[in-house]
Amino acid sequence: MCGIVGIVGQSAVAPLIVDALKRLEYRGYDSAGVATIEAGQLARRRAEGKLVNLEKRLKSEPLDGTIGIGHTRWATHGVPNETNAHPHFSGDVAIVHNGIIENFAELREELKADGYEFTSQTDTEVVAHLVARELRRGARPVDAAHRALQRLDGAFALAIMFRGDDDLIIGARNGPPLAVGHGEGEMFLGSDAIALAPFTNSITYLEDGDWAVVRRNHVQIYDMNGEPVERQRRQSIGTSLLVDKGNHRHFMEKEIHEQPEVISHTLAHYLDFVSGKSKAVEMPFDFARIDRLAISACGTAFLAGSIGKYWFERFARLPVDIDVASEFRYREMPISPDSAGLFVSQSGETADTLASLRYCRKAGIPISSIVNVRESTMARESDGIFPTLAGPEIGVASTKAFTCQLSVLAALAVRAAAERGKISADEEKVLVRHLSEAPRFASQVLKLDKQIERVAHHLASVRHVLYLGRDTNYPLAMEGALKLKEISYIHAEGYAAGELKHGPIALIDENMPVIVIAPHDRIFEKTVSNMQEVAARGGKIILITDKAGAEAATVRTLETIVLPDVPEIIAPIIYALPIQMLAYFTAVFMGTDVDQPRNLAKSVTVE
Ligand code: F6R
Repeated sequence: MCGIVGIVGQSAVAPLIVDALKRLEYRGYDSAGVATIEAGQLARRRAEGKLVNLEKRLKSEPLDGTIGIGHTRWATHGVPNETNAHPHFSGDVAIVHNGIIENFAELREELKADGYEFTSQTDTEVVAHLVARELRRGARPVDAAHRALQRLDGAFALAIMFRGDDDLIIGARNGPPLAVGHGEGEMFLGSDAIALAPFTNSITYLEDGDWAVVRRNHVQIYDMNGEPVERQRRQSIGTSLLVDKGNHRHFMEKEIHEQPEVISHTLAHYLDFVSGKSKAVEMPFDFARIDRLAISACGTAFLAGSIGKYWFERFARLPVDIDVASEFRYREMPISPDSAGLFVSQSGETADTLASLRYCRKAGIPISSIVNVRESTMARESDGIFPTLAGPEIGVASTKAFTCQLSVLAALAVRAAAERGKISADEEKVLVRHLSEAPRFASQVLKLDKQIERVAHHLASVRHVLYLGRDTNYPLAMEGALKLKEISYIHAEGYAAGELKHGPIALIDENMPVIVIAPHDRIFEKTVSNMQEVAARGGKIILITDKAGAEAATVRTLETIVLPDVPEIIAPIIYALPIQMLAYFTAVFMGTDVDQPRNLAKSVTVE
């Protein structure tokens, strides 16, 4: 999931490339690099770590070329160091790559036997050598690139530049996204429209198998057979403004605080608060006519979908199959012809989720997706999209996108319930009113920051944390654990509270904090029994509940975080906030890189 950029420009392109890479840093930040053609020679600057290191390098050793390619890396093959950083060179060829070349080992052996030396551990270098070998065999640059592309298996987006032609970049896509940006006497390539937003909003997305010959005044796109193809040029809605942190320390903190507003925008897109009914948002299928819903997603989006399953089944009596996308895509599940597919993704680019979507597409069922990026591949490949109106999410750990996904899922579940005749008009009104209260309650929870910070101070000194919850609080417990793991590097597990005695209870001792998510609902008493089992073994309970729950919990807790009394349907949305804040403050105490935690990337376009 690296980010790539190419510019055939009018003036020095290196600063523009760095600007575009900044917008792509969400795709990876292990290393970065830029290559240009300087006085007829390929030249590059690369640096390990974040983009600021590359910027420093370019300050002391600037590049002036008017054509260039750039890259920000999330390592797949080879450790994140300068040698493995892109661009990679071979002879007259410079290349940047996002994705994985699956047959790279075999190609590497073949090229080694042909006398090519490898300086990096990456899979990308084989592509540079393949193109260079075609040039050596007498092919012109465009044909050399095409021939090399035909040898590649796997998922890739590539930009290729040639010494000797400073009016040519080849872009190619098979899997990860790649867009051409059209300028006046200059052209651009980038992993997404947001990267290109400062330069142009006239964009053509390549489709899988496409490759493009990009010159200052002309772009031609071909399919893998070398046949010219027409692809729609569109106006991008990508903003050229780089989102900033405002007066927050981190993007994650800012995004946590944006939730009341973005949840409100998202809900208002789907629900009419005046009439108490769902709005007639266009649907690619009819809830009354389907017999099942297949949901697939990864990570936090999967956990949102898992909560959605409880809602669709409870309110709309609509059975839901849900799986993490990396399993869904391969487990050959039978798809009912009367079902519909629903894919949940902030980025709309996650490789496994996209593959699940395509699996369902092949099965012939209607495809819909809940996405935050409306121009993403998933959005384009769906029959209908349900946008989350979260705005750009920069922090790698998902927060506002998660609660907006929950908002969409809850609104859709209410609509499904009404359309399937499972709730009366009055019941629908009540549910819509309850949902309309979510932003207000979310604002109230943000005010608990001091208490949550105190609990986080305790968490920052432990090595393991257990999260427990029942019903919709079970996926939320997993989300709490995921958030803590990814930004504080503390090991955490989320469990269904009722499963405790089937194994995890063995972990409980006086050093193990157990975070219990338990509003005072119809199964609260069951969770209290589980807390008693924890307390009896010396476990330290941190209870997240409401006033009634705090009064009814007959167990000693290390801390009880009391949230407002909220209606059942919005509880997962509201209870998501304290678990995000706990993870955030813990990470701040630990001194980790909150917005860009190690080993992660915001958009995961490889398997
Ligand atoms: C965790 C997180 C990830 C993503 C996952 C799916 O905080 O952000 O688990 O939820 O990588 O990404 P999208 O939603 O872009 O498909």
